[in-house]
Amino acid sequence: MRQRIRVAVIGGGQNVEHDVSRASAASARAALDPAKYEAVAFTIGRDGVWCDGDGRAFGVSPAGSLAGAMQALSTCDIVLPLLHGPLGEDGAIAALCELAGLPYVGSPPRAGALAMDKWATKLLAEALGVRTAPGTLVTSADEVAFERPVVVKPVAAGSSFGVRLVRSEAELRPAILAALEHDDRALVEHLVIGREIDIAVLDDPQGGPRTGPPLEIIVHNGLFDTVAKYSGGAKFVVPAPLSDHESALLTTAALRVYRALGCRGVARVDFFLTESGPILNEVNTMPGMTEASQLPKIFAAAGLSYPDLLDHLLQAATRIVST
Ligand SMILES: Nc1ncnc2c1ncn2[C@@H]1O[C@H](COP(=O)(O)OP(=O)(O)O)[C@@H](O)[C@H]1O
Ligand SMILES: [Mg+2]
Repeated sequence: MRQRIRVAVIGGGQNVEHDVSRASAASARAALDPAKYEAVAFTIGRDGVWCDGDGRAFGVSPAGSLAGAMQALSTCDIVLPLLHGPLGEDGAIAALCELAGLPYVGSPPRAGALAMDKWATKLLAEALGVRTAPGTLVTSADEVAFERPVVVKPVAAGSSFGVRLVRSEAELRPAILAALEHDDRALVEHLVIGREIDIAVLDDPQGGPRTGPPLEIIVHNGLFDTVAKYSGGAKFVVPAPLSDHESALLTTAALRVYRALGCRGVARVDFFLTESGPILNEVNTMPGMTEASQLPKIFAAAGLSYPDLLDHLLQAATRIVST
């Protein structure tokens, strides 16, 4: 019998998206075709200590456990890092794999780091001619005065943690302080009025990156915040009802940003569609990957089931190494 491919599925991580990542990892492990793949679970604790699939720590400290985890990772054929947020999606885990010479799914360190930084992404997108919300970078709550409704958010976080809509002067300072709890830099952005549309990009080793059908997020009131994300307060519509022209503008912008950042494997590029066209919100190089998350839903609607999507990602990453 042909040997199964050992896939190290890494979840958890040292940030507020720890549980979201564990859900992505558990969902992926359950969906990998057992005839072809052997899923080997790794979890990074909130404290940085790596554990195996039975919850046993590889060591007592982050460094000690990492040494043990590397030993175990070296018995795997490929790494599937399903980590969101800082010290994972920001290129850290890709860098570890690069240093260790382990094939891995997803973007290389630079793309992860740039996309995790909403300020850097904004500068890069604007330079490419892809519009973003006008915004200011702040490192203290004393730096800005209230002039109009804004959205305040940490430069690098996720799952809407630390993101607040500010409609009055009194709300501004608390919002900046809340964002600065997640990062030492915050973004104060003009409130964009528009539909929220996500474009998923998937690398096709033969034909280069391609996009899935646009997905619209319908939020019943206000922002697509943490509560709406994880308590069923939002609805996804895929394909989003858009004109061919609107779809073309969004997919062209998504691919332009994906390529310029140097993303690999997969990414979800999130936009607002306004009366004057698309405005880029952010790029996720490792978006939510449970079967019910936006990106798997997008490709399922295009005929690529969740197990086949994972298979596609693993195959594509293996091919990068073997060429
Ligand atoms: N400038 C903005 N204008 C309007 N809504 C915004 C703006 N920035 C963020 N939002 C809302 O807040 C949500 C979370 O913000 P986002 O930047 O995507 O952070 P995260 O990385 O945590 O997902 C978005 O999905 C959107 O609903
Ligand atoms: Mg977002």
